[in-house]
Amino acid sequence: MATLPTVHILFENPAWNPPLLDALEAEGFPYELHYLVDGVLDPSTEPPEGIWINRVSPSSHTRDHGHTVTMAREILFWLELHGRRVINGLRAFEFEMSKLRQDLILRKYGILTPRTVLAVGTKNLVEQAQTFDGPFITKHNQGGKGLGIHLFYNADQLEAFLASGEFDAGPDGKVILQQYIQPPEPYITRVELVGDRFLFAMRSRTDEGFQLCPSDACQVPASNPDVCPIDGEDSDSVGVSTKFSQSPITADDELVIKMLRMIAAEGIEVAGIEFVQGADGLRYTYDINGTTNYSGVLGKQTGIDGMREVVRYIKHHVVPQLAGLRAA
Ligand SMILES: Nc1ncnc2c1ncn2[C@@H]1O[C@H](COP(=O)(O)OP(=O)(O)O)[C@@H](O)[C@H]1O
Ligand SMILES: [Mg+2]
Repeated sequence: MATLPTVHILFENPAWNPPLLDALEAEGFPYELHYLVDGVLDPSTEPPEGIWINRVSPSSHTRDHGHTVTMAREILFWLELHGRRVINGLRAFEFEMSKLRQDLILRKYGILTPRTVLAVGTKNLVEQAQTFDGPFITKHNQGGKGLGIHLFYNADQLEAFLASGEFDAGPDGKVILQQYIQPPEPYITRVELVGDRFLFAMRSRTDEGFQLCPSDACQVPASNPDVCPIDGEDSDSVGVSTKFSQSPITADDELVIKMLRMIAAEGIEVAGIEFVQGADGLRYTYDINGTTNYSGVLGKQTGIDGMREVVRYIKHHVVPQLAGLRAA
């Protein structure tokens, strides 16, 4: 068997690496880690050969890495200009960095979303808030781990909050106002997709707040600055996931089919897409995660190791594709 190409991992949060590295080792891939917090890029140089995977998260700035996202944009451009194969490359990255753009593509593929508006500036925020009939939430356009999420019942409440000086408009001042969909059952569903495949869907309990990263590394107290500050463990003492459970959704679900069509057409190869079911029975989709993480506890229960599936996708789809390109 021919030797496998090196997989280059562009990352910012080391806590999320172990499941990916384990999977790469298990499938026999050599890999190189590229820690992206600041750096240098000389355009006269060429990127190393191999397959690249982008694992840079929109929440990097909350781990004191305020320059990661801007540097990642340049590096991804450089990689793609040189024809490097990047999994979740620049186009996918720009979707992950903007909830507005996520809403635009979801709608383009006929996927129902909560009413969503982007606003910059206090005056615009208040004016737009007045156009919502019921409760709404604010979010950072460059989101991740529930950043900037607050629930309001009317525009006056938002105005008072803005006046208090406690409001954080996020890394670039772009704020999303979004219709709040109150789930009758306290969970959201996250659909995990890789390439043209549905892996599984997961329910996440929402009764503990808005921060729902499934990574095992994020199920620890906020005292560790390198991980998502979700309070509470994901598992009870016998290792059964209490926060995450498998959803009954299957690959032939109409919503899953639309999501797969969307990611294929828009250049997203690895995605965890979230929806919430409202009291009207409709499913509203609101978040596309490219730097998706998988709950190891749930993986043990379902027998599906998400990262292993990502690496198998690289092995069985991306590697042959590259070999085909070279041969042509
Ligand atoms: N429109 C909405 N209606 C009800 N709950 C929502 C809505 N949008 C987000 N949430 C809740 O907040 C969580 C975080 O929001 P999300 O848009 O996924 O941001 P992030 O990118 O930070 O994960 C969601 O998983 C869900 O529980
Ligand atoms: Mg989310």
